[in-house]
Amino acid sequence: MDGHSLVETLDPAETTQERTPRAARQVQVDPPLGMLAELTHRCPLQCPYCSNPLKLLKAADELDTETWLSVFSQAADLGILQVHLSGGEPTLRQDLEQFVERLASRGVYTNLITAGVNLTQERLRNLVSRGLDHLQLSLQAIDPVISDKIGNYKNSLAKKLDVARWVREAGLPLTINAPTHRHNIGQAPALIELALELGADRLEIAHVQYYGWAANNKAALMPDYERVLVEAAFVAEAKTRLKGILNIDYVTPDHYAQFPKPCMGGWAKDVLNITPEGKVLPCHAAESLGMRFDTVKDRPLAGIWYEGEAFNRFRGFDWMKEPCRSCPRKEIDFGGCRCQAFALTGDAAATDPACSLSPNHHLMEEITGSYTSAEPPPFVYRRIGRA
Ligand code: SF4
Ligand code: FES
Repeated sequence: MDGHSLVETLDPAETTQERTPRAARQVQVDPPLGMLAELTHRCPLQCPYCSNPLKLLKAADELDTETWLSVFSQAADLGILQVHLSGGEPTLRQDLEQFVERLASRGVYTNLITAGVNLTQERLRNLVSRGLDHLQLSLQAIDPVISDKIGNYKNSLAKKLDVARWVREAGLPLTINAPTHRHNIGQAPALIELALELGADRLEIAHVQYYGWAANNKAALMPDYERVLVEAAFVAEAKTRLKGILNIDYVTPDHYAQFPKPCMGGWAKDVLNITPEGKVLPCHAAESLGMRFDTVKDRPLAGIWYEGEAFNRFRGFDWMKEPCRSCPRKEIDFGGCRCQAFALTGDAAATDPACSLSPNHHLMEEITGSYTSAEPPPFVYRRIGRA
C-alpha cells in the first residue's frame, strides 16, 4: 500500500437507507492513525452509560486468538500507529498478552483501556514485560458509594486506586477517564486532586455521550445546565493552572453545545473500530445507523479502510446537506456526529442537531428540558442477554 488512496464517494442525495449507483468523486484517503479493538463485550461492571450496543455479544461469538493476531498484523501493515485495547473489559481475554506482544513487536503503541477491577499486579507486570505502553483507567466516581452504585460492583473504587498505583510503580503513563453525568457532576475539583496525587499524566473528564446503553438512561444521567456551566468554568481554569503538570481533556455534553464536536475527527478519517465479532466500523456507535459493515473475516483490513462502502459513505464534504454544505465550520467539525444525526432525525446525512444552525436543534433543547427537571429514574444496568 502506498499510504494514500483515491476512492469514489457516494452521491450526496443518497441516504443511509437508499443505496443507488454513485457519482464518482475523488477524495484523498490517508492511512488510519489509530484503531480501537473491542476485544469483548463482557465486563464485570454494568455502567448505565456504556457505549457498547444494546445487543451485547456473547463470549462464544467473539473473534478467536488467531484472527485477532492477524488483524493486528494487518493494522501494522496498514500504518496504524496506536491500538487501543478495549471492551467491555479487555482483561477478560486470556490472550491479551499475545495481542500486546504482537503489536509491540511491530512497533505499534498499545493502550489498555480497563475498568481495572479484575486486574492483578502480577498480570499488569506481565503485560508491561510484553510491551504494553500505556494504561487508561476508568473511574466511576471519587465517592466509594456512588462508584459502586454506578458500576453495580462492590468495592470498586479501592480496587481502581490500587491499579492506578501499580501502573505508576511499573513506570507506565496513566490516563484516568471519568465519565460525568447527573450523579457525579461537581466532582471535578476532587478528581483533579486525586489525579495529581496518583501521578496521572492525563485526566479525561468526559460528559456521557448518549449512544448504546447510555441512550436508555438519558433521563437518569442528564445533568442540569447550571451545574455544567460551573464545572466547565472550573475545568477551564484548572487546565490553565496545571499546564505542563496534568493534561486535562474536557468533553462537554452535546446537549448544551453551540456547535457539535468533530466526532471521530471526521468519518473514516483517522481511526477505525473493530467489534468483538470482527465488524469494522468508522466509529463505535456506527451499527446504530443500520448500514452494512464488512468484517475482518470477509476481506483484508486495508480493503475495508480504502474501499469499503460504509467507510466512504461520509468521507469528504460532497455528501453534506445545508446548512453544513456551505458552512465554513465544516472543515472543523465535519457536520458533527452521524450517529446522533440519525438517532434524532432518522437521516444520517443531516446536520447534527447539536449544532445551533441545524433546523432540528430544537430536538436537543426539548430533550434536555424534559429530562433535567424531573426526578431521575433508576438506572437500567448493562447486562449481556438483556436489551
Ligand atoms: Fe458544523 Fe454543519 Fe453546524 Fe456548520 S452547520 S457548524 S458544519 S454542524
Ligand atoms: Fe458515530 Fe459520532 S458516534 S459518528
